Amino acid sequence: MAFTPLFGHQMLYGADYNPEQWLDMPEVLDADVKMMQQARCNIMSVGIFSWAKLEPEEGVFDFSWLDATLDRLNAHGIKVFLATPSGARPAWLAQKYPEVLRVNEQGQRALFGGRHNHCMTSPVYREKVKIINQKLAERYGKHPAVIGWHLSNEYGGSCHCPLCQEKFRQYLKDKYQTLENLNARWWNTFWSHTITDWSQIHSPSLLGEKAVHALNLDWQRFTSDNALDFCKWERDCVKAITPDLPVTANFMEFFLDYDYFQWAKELDFISWDSYPQWHVFKDPDYIASYTAMNHDLMRSLKGGQPWVLMESTPSCTNWRELSTLKRPGMNTLASLQAVAHGADSVQFFQWRKSRGSSEKFHGAIIDHVGHLDTRVGREACDLGLKLSKLGEICGSEVKAEVALVFDTQNRWAIDDAQGPRNKGMNYLEHCLDYYRAFYKCGIAVDVIDETCDLSKYKVVVAPLTYMLREGYAERVKNFVAQGGTYVSTCWSGIVDDTDLCFLGGFPGPLREVMGIWEEEIDSLEDGIEVYAKMEPKGAELCFNSVEPSDIFKGHELCGLVHPDADTEVLVSYDVDQPQSYSPIFYAGMPVLTRHAYGQGKAYYVASRMDRAFYDNLVQLLIADHELHNGCGQKAYRLAEGLSVTARLSDNYRYVFIGNYASYEQSLGLNFAYEDMLNEDEQGNKQAVSGAITLKPFEMRVLRRPINS
Ligand code: GLA
Ligand code: ZN
Repeated sequence: MAFTPLFGHQMLYGADYNPEQWLDMPEVLDADVKMMQQARCNIMSVGIFSWAKLEPEEGVFDFSWLDATLDRLNAHGIKVFLATPSGARPAWLAQKYPEVLRVNEQGQRALFGGRHNHCMTSPVYREKVKIINQKLAERYGKHPAVIGWHLSNEYGGSCHCPLCQEKFRQYLKDKYQTLENLNARWWNTFWSHTITDWSQIHSPSLLGEKAVHALNLDWQRFTSDNALDFCKWERDCVKAITPDLPVTANFMEFFLDYDYFQWAKELDFISWDSYPQWHVFKDPDYIASYTAMNHDLMRSLKGGQPWVLMESTPSCTNWRELSTLKRPGMNTLASLQAVAHGADSVQFFQWRKSRGSSEKFHGAIIDHVGHLDTRVGREACDLGLKLSKLGEICGSEVKAEVALVFDTQNRWAIDDAQGPRNKGMNYLEHCLDYYRAFYKCGIAVDVIDETCDLSKYKVVVAPLTYMLREGYAERVKNFVAQGGTYVSTCWSGIVDDTDLCFLGGFPGPLREVMGIWEEEIDSLEDGIEVYAKMEPKGAELCFNSVEPSDIFKGHELCGLVHPDADTEVLVSYDVDQPQSYSPIFYAGMPVLTRHAYGQGKAYYVASRMDRAFYDNLVQLLIADHELHNGCGQKAYRLAEGLSVTARLSDNYRYVFIGNYASYEQSLGLNFAYEDMLNEDEQGNKQAVSGAITLKPFEMRVLRRPINS
């Protein structure tokens, strides 16, 4: 069943818009709306950093420019996501109430400047935010242009001020109730760290405590919860007056600070800001799959609900070492990629380049030249036309048979624990290896965390599940018992959610279902590989011209495991390489095992493997489960640079075929389709079948009836 489209059957298309920077040039503002229409824009995010213009002095408000802006946009048929302005505060506020300024972990309070650097506990800040938010809601809640709230901007970071310390202590009291309990769960007897009074607890700091991993974890949880509490405060201020306007907060790329699965519950829809580094990596699938995984995470945060691409750049960023331009076609391809993965919008940062200050050279639809007749402007107009043909796709869903577990709290824990690889556990990259192997076969993947429901999937892949959160192991057992396939790796099932190691053998509560015991884990120098050979059973992995005598390669981490008697070994570590200075003394131990449990199967992968291994493991899973690609046929591996993705409405399957390579490529179609973007001479959607050719950086969007 498809979703109800959030904003009707039209793709939202627009940008962040900052008319307040141009108030002394009214001709610019008039030109803006005309050009927005020309580019077929229908949405602008307004007011994101406008506090000082809205409240130039404490308690003195000026809404005249915003009144005029919203009316002007409305008159031109452009809707608005209205922002609350808390992402950057006015200078008067910081000067009069220093408590609103953030304190770093060494106890230094920030000076006024920058943005996103206020204390989210400060009662003064909350009160001032409440006043301005309420005024905005009262004034514009019923404005015909306003269709939703853009809460603040890219919430992030933490504050270590006395107010936050006190709140953290209260958070711990609520969680642990007694100091005995806290000391036990944090293992504080170690190094004489026993706490005897709540006031002795301080946030992690290089000047003080950084070595108690459970403290670090709780601090991460607290900062995520406290920022979410602030976001809820903002939300409730506006919801009290405009209960029907949906709210969002723009999220960021695989963001480490906060647990977005917790946040998602409090927002009406998900939006995020996507800035991939196109054209920098030689391998065209790398950044495409990385970005696809991020889009899939955003979609999965609210159970598959379509989401909003709130920001992206039409040309380049200006905050990386190099500001590489998107090549012709890339902006359209990247924008349609978001739609392919569930977005019902395409929006940019920003509409018009600032004239001064730090973002004056960041990409925008309107450059300093001031018109749309530029390479970027023309492509933006063409994209507007394309999106205007895709309105019927809004609300349609991406149906995934596979889920990848990528858990932020596990990421906090695995990165922090001093253990096998302090130079970086590469949790995200390890997850991406698996994701990419499915993506390369056009198989849809939901990116979920340990709190999510597993039962709707055929296959769940969970790399490096170091920390098992409350209830997760139980869910995995039920999932496999009922016929699911679960793929796990080394360094899984090591600790509980206060970072206490499981006793009695790893992977702790998953031992029984996995059918193995991981005794040790070895870390290899970068560049060193271990060889892994197929056992007779491993012949099942022989796809894509891989022969039983071929070897796979592992690197980084090598789990040393013992299989249970009823566990099959498909691949094992090979004999030592001669004269190796670090002999692989575990030759013969398993690299890939399979254990039948209930109706299902659990695979364990002992090392971070090479691409051929993942590709072939996915082929095995396809064979086992009849996994489908976006075209709705049995999945198979696509040529480098190609992608196939689908969205389903009640009536149609929409297939997105992308070419991320800088050369032309073709793909054979097994079904007859209609082209969503191109018409024949009669003005009907062009018929498409057989082999199609894609230009460099081209995306085709096709549809066929759901039951054809
Ligand atoms: C972020 C911010 C924007 C802008 C862009 C630049 O996403 O939300 O205000 O600074 O980065 O890429
Ligand atoms: Zn604070």
